[in-house]
Amino acid sequence: MILKREILITSDGSTTIHLPDWDEQYHSKHGAIQEAYHVFLRAGFDQVTENNKSISILEIGFGTGLNAFITFLEAREKAVKIKYVGVEAYPISSEEVMKLNYIEELKAAKEQRYFDAMHTISWEQKHLVSEDFQLTKRKQFFENITDKNTFDLIYFDAFGAKNQPELWTEAIFLRMFEALKENGILVTYSAKGSVRRAMQTVGFSVERIPGPPGKREMLRATKKKEPVK
Ligand SMILES: C[S@@+](CC[C@H](N)C(=O)[O-])C[C@H]1O[C@@H](n2cnc3c(N)ncnc32)[C@H](O)[C@@H]1O
Repeated sequence: MILKREILITSDGSTTIHLPDWDEQYHSKHGAIQEAYHVFLRAGFDQVTENNKSISILEIGFGTGLNAFITFLEAREKAVKIKYVGVEAYPISSEEVMKLNYIEELKAAKEQRYFDAMHTISWEQKHLVSEDFQLTKRKQFFENITDKNTFDLIYFDAFGAKNQPELWTEAIFLRMFEALKENGILVTYSAKGSVRRAMQTVGFSVERIPGPPGKREMLRATKKKEPVK
């Protein structure tokens, strides 16, 4: 996937990366930060940390590191301990990282070093970005994920099905189902019927919940004890 990448400013003022060849973005054009908080933190992180103050998260598509960084900020505020695994086959360059404006937009100048660390640490190794935030970046294709019963939460943030239909299939969701612990949840911005059905087929219990600005609905899938078909 050698595609041209450009920096774009979204409606809430935060940057994202745009792929002109695919007419695709790393985040919603209606607001990158806004979408990330809504889909991954409010719909996923809040739910999982209600009764658990030490959780493990798998991110499907580490990309710009925005989800990892806002998870770090939120976890620190709520005193939650995190083990975070970000999978990414096509890491962005340090030049691209420098063009992202998340530190300014999140008014997080004091946390700059944590964001920088997330991008400069080596791949394939566990790193303590802070005392309570362990990050492992894995340069890997989603199709090769084989973790079992490991994660409490999955941020499923692949590009849309119109460009990568192979990532929204039963085969991939089965890998996600197996990677989750019992009662673990997966959240994604997609609300497509075919995606929901693929999740249900592999055993997830799926809810349609309100989406971020510009999107009516999104999906939250739970690995219930008794698989619901
Ligand atoms: C929507 S973007 C992720 C945005 C990211 N969560 C963020 O906060 O910036 C999707 C990511 O998936 C990566 N990707 C695409 N196909 C992949 C594959 N088959 N395996 C692993 N990574 C892939 C892309 O390089 C891109 O970074």
